[in-house]
Amino acid sequence: MSNIIEIQDLNYTYLNGSPYEHQALKNITLSLNRGDCLGIFGSNGSGKSTLAKILNGLLRPTAGKFVICGIDSTTKHLNDHLWRKVGYVFQYPEKQIFKSNVYDEIAYGPRNLGLSESDVKSRVNDALEKVGFIPDLTEHLSPVNFSGGMRRRIAIAGILAINPEVLIMDEPMASLDPIGRKMVYDIIKNRQENKNTTIIISHDLKEIIDLIDRIVILDHGTVIFEGIINDLQANAKILTKYKFELPDYMQVIYALAIKGVKINTSIKSMAEVVSEISQILRNNPCW
Ligand SMILES: Nc1ncnc2c1ncn2[C@@H]1O[C@H](COP(=O)(O)OP(=O)(O)OP(=O)(O)O)[C@@H](O)[C@H]1O
Ligand SMILES: [Mg+2]
Repeated sequence: MSNIIEIQDLNYTYLNGSPYEHQALKNITLSLNRGDCLGIFGSNGSGKSTLAKILNGLLRPTAGKFVICGIDSTTKHLNDHLWRKVGYVFQYPEKQIFKSNVYDEIAYGPRNLGLSESDVKSRVNDALEKVGFIPDLTEHLSPVNFSGGMRRRIAIAGILAINPEVLIMDEPMASLDPIGRKMVYDIIKNRQENKNTTIIISHDLKEIIDLIDRIVILDHGTVIFEGIINDLQANAKILTKYKFELPDYMQVIYALAIKGVKINTSIKSMAEVVSEISQILRNNPCW
């Protein structure tokens, strides 16, 4: 499988050269396969959003380089190229809505792509449906009429309407109700099923564990873990230090393995756990 993202020795310093300069990212080297879902975790201030902004072209690396969707970070006018390929749903995107009606807000990206108005309309309708709105009932309304969580959905729809090759979502589930969280979950699941690449920044491993193929943990701007969930599970030091909680059903699986039960620990979803335990019970009727 080809890599859609290659990052090499990437550094970023805010206010570089000033007395207030702060190095937010230090020698980041990472790669991601096309179609994979990457989860980025880390404490407040560890550099997650800075990395997302670099990959979307909003910030330029202070040192190091990356290639994403075939676009090299040394490209002139990088942002002009990257926004078409890499969609970035900001942390609290609802604060950045600026159009006076829902349709124009979501149409902003597709119109800038130069699409015909009929294609723009179909992108807007499709995106609205993906975030759970009925287009005819919603598109003429002003975003100010919606609650914060609903405005988040509108902002997400605006990025989905660009059809980005890579979608980066920065803590998209934070402060959403269960319906909103399920909606975000379904969007990511749907992208995964269609082999589209997604990066999700989160603090809650439990919430997205069955969606992510790879995990990166940042600490003070440095990658301190990169791998799959099984590698993380084996790393008790990191689990404890960062207080990562695994879902209860996974804790059951690992507890059984520790007790000597032959069980596949490389499973991530509740459905897989049920099937694994049922199989074991069928094979051991005396239990
Ligand atoms: N515009 C800025 N100017 C100066 N320093 C900044 C700026 N934005 C972020 N920083 C600093 O860079 C570091 C990384 O910030 P960043 O927003 O990337 O962290 P984060 O991991 O996304 O945190 P959170 O979980 O709180 O969203 C922090 O120390 C932050 O204070
Ligand atoms: Mg952030």
